Order: sequence, then structure tokens, then C-alpha cells
Amino acid sequence: MVHLTVVAAARPNFMKVAPVLRALEGRAETTLVHTGQHYDDQMSNVFFAELGIPLPDVNLGVGSGSHAEQTAAVMVAFEKQLLGSPTDAVVVVGDVNSTLAASLVATKLGIRVAHVEAGLRSGDWTMPEEANRVLTDRMSTWLFTPSADADANLLAEGIASDRIRLVGNVMIDTLLTNLDRARARADVLRAQLGGLERFAVLTLHRPANVDEPETLLRLIDAVARAAPDLPVIFPVHPRTSARLEGCTDLPSNLRPLPPLSYLDFVGLVAGAELVLTDSGGIQEETSVLGVPCLTIRDNTERPITCELGTNRLIGTDPAAIAPAVAEARTTSRTPASIPLWDGHAGERVADVLVHDLQQSKGRP
Ligand code: UD1
Repeated sequence: MVHLTVVAAARPNFMKVAPVLRALEGRAETTLVHTGQHYDDQMSNVFFAELGIPLPDVNLGVGSGSHAEQTAAVMVAFEKQLLGSPTDAVVVVGDVNSTLAASLVATKLGIRVAHVEAGLRSGDWTMPEEANRVLTDRMSTWLFTPSADADANLLAEGIASDRIRLVGNVMIDTLLTNLDRARARADVLRAQLGGLERFAVLTLHRPANVDEPETLLRLIDAVARAAPDLPVIFPVHPRTSARLEGCTDLPSNLRPLPPLSYLDFVGLVAGAELVLTDSGGIQEETSVLGVPCLTIRDNTERPITCELGTNRLIGTDPAAIAPAVAEARTTSRTPASIPLWDGHAGERVADVLVHDLQQSKGRP
């Protein structure tokens, strides 16, 4: 049987590896390596429990640090892992620092890399994720893309078309598998939050939006004022909560919460009147759920969510928020139909990898 080492590192990775691991079951041996980039219960463990992901075989325990420290720590630990446990290929997902670090180590050891969620480009090199995306793709043998715009990006960079496989969106596999459970869980959460009926959801964690407390407070204030009649549910990422520490005069309709589990969060989003975010994956989830999404960024690596979905890029000027919220609240809710975002992307990834690796091992 072929052997694959699958790497997961941070919150948005866990829902991406889940369907790939499930599809590989019984068809390949797998070693799941958690780099430990995210380590809090609510940023990591709860996702394994809720999504039925097998516990990691190995946790590299790298934790937080500067970009260089974090990337280097993953590289040193992952090299030892690969030297001690030979594997036919390494599977990485998304665009976090661990994605790049693991890809670089595998490449230098002559082990082929498969990148799930390849080809996304924001064109914004001030985002650490853009460097992680471009460099990981350059090193990968298999580029599993979620949408045709990603294929076009890769072709424009000179990547050979036979390395590119349009498989759809693995994160949407996880959404569709778990949506009923998520809605049921969110009913309980809404009751606990005082019988929430109509509400908005806000998430902010991009360094450009949150690292400077003044910028962060101006954005939060503008969101809360833009919908004064709605509670704004704000699950706060640890990077963001560090900047809000000691801040007592938050708007009265803002409801800060600790980071939520996957089911609680997705269920809440599914019932929201609108979502404001600077996340990448939430642009995709809201599109499939038909919930209007206002993205507080100047660019997106997921343009298909604006073209076919419910997403609208509104920039980072607080003055742009109120008119955009007013417009979004009058927009009809239509779930997007995006080609191959059908719940079977993980199976397509597994089919390609098992087939190609069996061929190169000389087995049928
Ligand atoms: C990382 C990814 C980002 C992704 C985000 C999702 C990179 C460059 N960034 O950003 O692409 O969108 O994850 O969450 O890889 N912390 C905790 N507990 C944890 C993890 C982090 O308290 O479990 C705190 C630490 O203080 C840390 C800070 O959050 O310094 C930031 O964590 P880090 O992994 O460096 O980056 P994120 O902002 O989470």
C-alpha cells in the first residue's frame, strides 16, 4: 500500500484534511502530522473531536513565534519526522507557515508534495500567506485546485498543466457533511446567548486589521454602528484578543466570545443575517450557505466567491462599512452553485494520489 504523510497545522487546516483522510481510508496508509502551530483546545483539539479526525500520529509542538522562528521550527522537526518515517508523498493544505515549511523539507529530501487548495493568489505580497502559496505551489508535484481561476493563475506562472488537477473545494466537503449537526448545535448556542434571532457575525484576525489596536477598534466600532439594531457576534481569535486586552468601551451591541468550535461557528453563520470578516475560508462557506458576506480586505485570493457567491470586497476603510451593510441587508439570499464544490473534492484528491503513487511504485 502507498504511504502518505498528511500535514495539519492551524485552525483552517483541520476542516481541509478531514475529507482527504476519510477518502484515503483503506486505500493508503497515512501518517497525520500536526505541527502544533495552533495548540489551544479551541483552536485545535475541538476540531479533531467534532470532525472525527483521527488523533495526530505525531505532534511537532512548534507553537507560536516570529515567521522565521515558526517556519524554521517546523522545518527542523519535520525533517527528523520524514527521515525517521519514510513516506511516498507529503500532503499539505492551505497557506499557513507550516504548509510552506513542510513542503520545503519534503522537496529537499526528494519526497513529492501534493498541495490541496493550490493556485489561490491575492496578488498581495504583504500577506504572509501569499508567499506561502506561491512557493508551496512552485515545489509541488500535484496541484489540487478549488476553482478554474486557480488553474489560470498557475498556468500564468508557467506551471505545466499536467501538474494541475481541478478537484473542487475540500472545505466545502466538510461544510456539507456537517451542516445539519452544526445547525442543531447553533440552536443551543443561540438559546444560551439569550434567544438570538437576528444577528450579524464578525471575525477579524489579519495582522493588517488587528495588530494595531487603533485600526482594530475603528473597524469594530464601524461594524457595530452600521447595524445598531443587530447583536454583532464576535468570536475573537487569540491574535485579536491580545490587542483588545484591557479595552472596556466596546460598542454595546458587540458580543465578543472566545473562539468557537467548528460546529458552533458554522451553525451560527448559517443563521446570520450577514457576516463581516477578513478570513479566507469564511468567504467560501458563506457563499455556499447563501449568507451575504462583506470582506474587510482590499483583495481576495478567492475571487470566485465574489463572481458566483455572496461575497463582496469592501476594503479596510471604516467609512465603507455602513453603506455596504445597508446594501447587504436588502440583498436576497441565494446559495451559490460553484462547479465541483459538491462535497466530493476529497475523494477526487485521493483518487489521483492513490492512482499516481501506485503507478510509480509499479503496482496496479
Ligand atoms: C495563522 C495563519 C493564517 C490563518 C490563521 C487562522 C500564518 C502566517 N498565518 O495566523 O494564515 O488565517 O492562522 O487562524 O501561518 N495563538 C494562541 N493559541 C493558538 C494559536 C495562536 O493563543 O492555538 C496566538 C499566539 O499568541 C500567536 C498568535 O495567536 O502568537 C498568532 O498565531 P499564529 O499561528 O502565528 O498566526 P495566526 O494569526 O493564527
